Amino acid sequence: MFSIFEILALTTLCASVAQSELIAPCHLNDMVCFEKSVNNALPQFLSENETLGVESCDPLKIDLIEGDMSDIKFKLFSPITTGFKKCVLKNVKMNLDALTLHSELDCPNLETTGKYEISGRLMTLPIEGSGDFKISAGTYKIILDFDLENVVGNDNKAYLSMKSFKQKNEATSPISFDFKNLFNGQKDMADKVLTYANQNWKQVSDLLQEPIWNENMKKIISNGNKYLMTEPLDQMFI
Ligand SMILES: *[C@@H]1O[C@H](CO)[C@@H](O)[C@H](O)[C@H]1NC(C)=O
Repeated sequence: MFSIFEILALTTLCASVAQSELIAPCHLNDMVCFEKSVNNALPQFLSENETLGVESCDPLKIDLIEGDMSDIKFKLFSPITTGFKKCVLKNVKMNLDALTLHSELDCPNLETTGKYEISGRLMTLPIEGSGDFKISAGTYKIILDFDLENVVGNDNKAYLSMKSFKQKNEATSPISFDFKNLFNGQKDMADKVLTYANQNWKQVSDLLQEPIWNENMKKIISNGNKYLMTEPLDQMFI
């Protein structure tokens, strides 16, 4: 038989283990502390957890990404992106009354690989092809603005959830684009458009990135929300 004391000690131990799991507690308006806690939790947030139904976000796998712009259309089949665990959150500002969260994400080297199909015009040049691709980014800066909501868990406690978000993405150093088999392997035409893309990496990323970022962030947020349901607000803020 356990004594009441042993049961209490065990419960306290379990509770403190649970508390230390994700976002270390901070005082409500201490955004320096909160930013540090969230950055410490980031690798875990981006990891798979079968119990919670969370898929890995680094590597992050998507079935299909479609871009449908007026001049250019593309599909990325089973793209896999790596590098999110190296991102750092900065300038975190949360307002729990207004239920808003602002933050900036600096990602030093994201890389996406998979198969592609593309056709249309890449600014001044025609582009056409299908095959393997690899996009290696240098640094990316992502500005995120979330609308949050309070969710009541099965335990009747209040939890936070990211309801919707807006993002602004900016490549801040050169990106390398490698698309195999452009123009059915006609080397002259393929080299010309690839050289152009690599020289004009900023404009090319501005043109093509939105659907890619959208799908990636949707998945990251949906997984993040599952983790957020493991830590009630009264544990996150003390
Ligand atoms: C998955 O999440 C559960 C519930 O929060 C936790 O108990 C478990 O340790 C996690 N598993 C891994 C591998 O992180």
